[in-house]
Amino acid sequence: MSHADEILSVKNIFKVFGPNPAMAMDMLRGGADKKEIFSKTGHVVGVFDASFSVKRGEIFVIMGLSGSGKSTMVRLFNRLIEPTSGSIHLNGREITGLSDKALLDVRRKDMGMVFQSFALMPHMSVLENTAFGLEIAGISESERHARAREALAQVGLAGHEHSYPHQLSGGMQQRVGLARALANDPTILLMDEAFSALDPLIRSEMQGELIRLQAEQQRTIIFISHDIEEAIRIGHRIAIMEGGRVVQIGTPQELINNPANEYVRTFFKGFDGSRVLKAGDVAKLDTHCVFKVNGKAPVLNQGIPYSYLIDEHGLLLDVVETSEFVPHSPSRTAQKHYHTREKQPVYIDTPLHEVLGIAAELPYPVPVLDRSGALKGTISQSQLLQTLSRV
Ligand SMILES: Nc1ncnc2c1ncn2[C@@H]1O[C@H](COP(=O)(O)OP(=O)(O)OP(=O)(O)O)[C@@H](O)[C@H]1O
Ligand SMILES: [Mg+2]
Repeated sequence: MSHADEILSVKNIFKVFGPNPAMAMDMLRGGADKKEIFSKTGHVVGVFDASFSVKRGEIFVIMGLSGSGKSTMVRLFNRLIEPTSGSIHLNGREITGLSDKALLDVRRKDMGMVFQSFALMPHMSVLENTAFGLEIAGISESERHARAREALAQVGLAGHEHSYPHQLSGGMQQRVGLARALANDPTILLMDEAFSALDPLIRSEMQGELIRLQAEQQRTIIFISHDIEEAIRIGHRIAIMEGGRVVQIGTPQELINNPANEYVRTFFKGFDGSRVLKAGDVAKLDTHCVFKVNGKAPVLNQGIPYSYLIDEHGLLLDVVETSEFVPHSPSRTAQKHYHTREKQPVYIDTPLHEVLGIAAELPYPVPVLDRSGALKGTISQSQLLQTLSRV
């Protein structure tokens, strides 16, 4: 990742709660873990040696069990709490150890916060509630209202400016919370379990809304969740926290394919991986059954039931039953490529669940192509079943 892509970067961050964090830090450096430190000293290790970067314009999800340190991490980001050790950079500028005034600016301008239960002011209209943060920042009323109106429109609440919170459903109230954060146009939007209190249908609708907003505005969003479905749906990358540590960071596919430990694996258990895995994640290229047609008919390996014929550029020409193969003029073979003939060619970005039906109909392992038609690998039925049973 180049520096320009990083918006937030965290280096060796620790957060210890208690009266004597320095002592606890010494114990940590000596190899003690969270449990030992708590039992011996009563100090709580909230975040333990976290280092990672969030990219500009991504939805970065932090996931973990209750008490794993997710909210602590977010509070470190918006500098509501001071790390015990380590540094945090925002847009290349260190925000750890800033003066109170500079800190206040970061909190106000750079970090927009949306919580689980959003405390709207009951006596203020939707418009006033949305403009609330701007008022504190000293922005004129007309500009406040203009920005609040725009933010409300972004979250689908145009026309509700003059309603009061008690007249809104829970989902609408949460939208007002989101609008309030957006009105501020923050560098990073921090959302801590922002949708957890919503009922499933509205929650799903809000997730869709967030995905749309992010795609339109290329906003950087750090989203905390303990729900795997939510994390996978909205996250470009997911960080998994366990006992204060970040144990793994990756795309949903990467985590499903290669869980770092049992804890990560457990999160994905019961999750229907065929919905997030792509054919390219599973395909393997077995060069023993791939033959280049290079001006003359290829000599196939009779020990392999099916052969994949490619041209000099790697484009798939045909899949043939080896024993039945009658060599013919390669120019004839090359007249049409496999992907232009097949009804349903499988590409590297084809969702795995769509491959299931295709694999069942083809007698040979499904060839997986890139968008130019080049053969990237194949997926056999047994490979497919194995992958799907693993997740
Ligand atoms: N102000 C505090 N003082 C002492 N301990 C704290 C404080 N804030 C958090 N902790 C502890 O730090 C650990 C991490 O808490 P945190 O709130 O970050 O967890 P979380 O992952 O957000 O959990 P949840 O899913 O329940 O919200 C917990 O053991 C918690 O008890
Ligand atoms: Mg929390």
